[in-house]
Amino acid sequence: MDQCVLLAPAKINLYLEIIGDRPDGFHELAMVMQTVALSDRITLSRLSSDTIRIRCSHPEVPSDSSNLAYRAAELMQRKFPRASARHGGLSIEIEKNIPVGAGLAGGSTDAAAVLVGIDLLWQLGLTRAELEILGATLGSDVPFCIAGGTAIATGRGEKISPLPDLQGLYMVLAKYRSLSVSTPWAYQTYRHQFESGYVREPASLLARQERVHSGPMVAAIAAQATRGLAQQEGWAIAQRLYNDLEKVVLPAHPQVQALREACAACPGVLGAMMSGSGPTVFALSQTQAEAEVVKATLAAQFDDPDLELWVTSLSTAGVRLETL
Ligand code: C5P
Repeated sequence: MDQCVLLAPAKINLYLEIIGDRPDGFHELAMVMQTVALSDRITLSRLSSDTIRIRCSHPEVPSDSSNLAYRAAELMQRKFPRASARHGGLSIEIEKNIPVGAGLAGGSTDAAAVLVGIDLLWQLGLTRAELEILGATLGSDVPFCIAGGTAIATGRGEKISPLPDLQGLYMVLAKYRSLSVSTPWAYQTYRHQFESGYVREPASLLARQERVHSGPMVAAIAAQATRGLAQQEGWAIAQRLYNDLEKVVLPAHPQVQALREACAACPGVLGAMMSGSGPTVFALSQTQAEAEVVKATLAAQFDDPDLELWVTSLSTAGVRLETL
């Protein structure tokens, strides 16, 4: 096999709670993550030389070792030197459909796809758990992006507990093209403002992380799994959306705050929130037709060429092989 094409989907956070500090300088989190259908397309090909070559359709995405997908390939070369020597170098082509610097894990999902793709190209036979351990060394969201679906993520975000599949909800993603938010900035600013409330004792930390398992968002997702996604269940999930990072990102970017309020007020929207460290806002709807109306309403209301809008849906799978 000389080439494979993979779909690398974006994620949103349905729930993001910052619990405390970690000795490694990161934060202890309790999150509910959800894959969405909007995906990048990654073409991985073998090269006769031992180099890594990366090309991306988006001008702002770097084509050097600062790209997480490049670092994923480097990591595989380092971890599996014999397979690397046997199979040669790698060309990585990224068709970028997920907005950049958006809080949608676009870079992490590309890196996840490179790990999955190299495992296939080099016939390494790695398990999902082994791929997740490799992914965690690249970034906190990479392990989730590998298997995707609906899951609780704790620790740095790399400890994944799968939840029942959530399906049948649609959404509008809304982002100002020229606005990106730095994830380190968002977490550092949060620390400056809210550090006094951080949980410090290990037992209390664990208790807070476990609380998400029995919390209302997970209960709403479980109810949907047993009863199907009726209007009531979609509404229940949308009512439990929560993101601590909104407390620092929205005041710093009033236009995102206004966008979030407009999304929440649109007819047909079950609930709206910022994803991850933003600045993308998502607005959940019960049907695709309703989501299309929400998109048209927002486009007319803001009438701003800088505002990008996508209609997409929840998805049950992470990185997927498109063709071999
Ligand atoms: O792991 P990742 O590279 O996505 O993290 C980006 C930045 O976000 C980190 O450098 C850190 O500043 C912040 N972060 C954090 N706690 C986490 C995850 C990310 O403070 N659990």
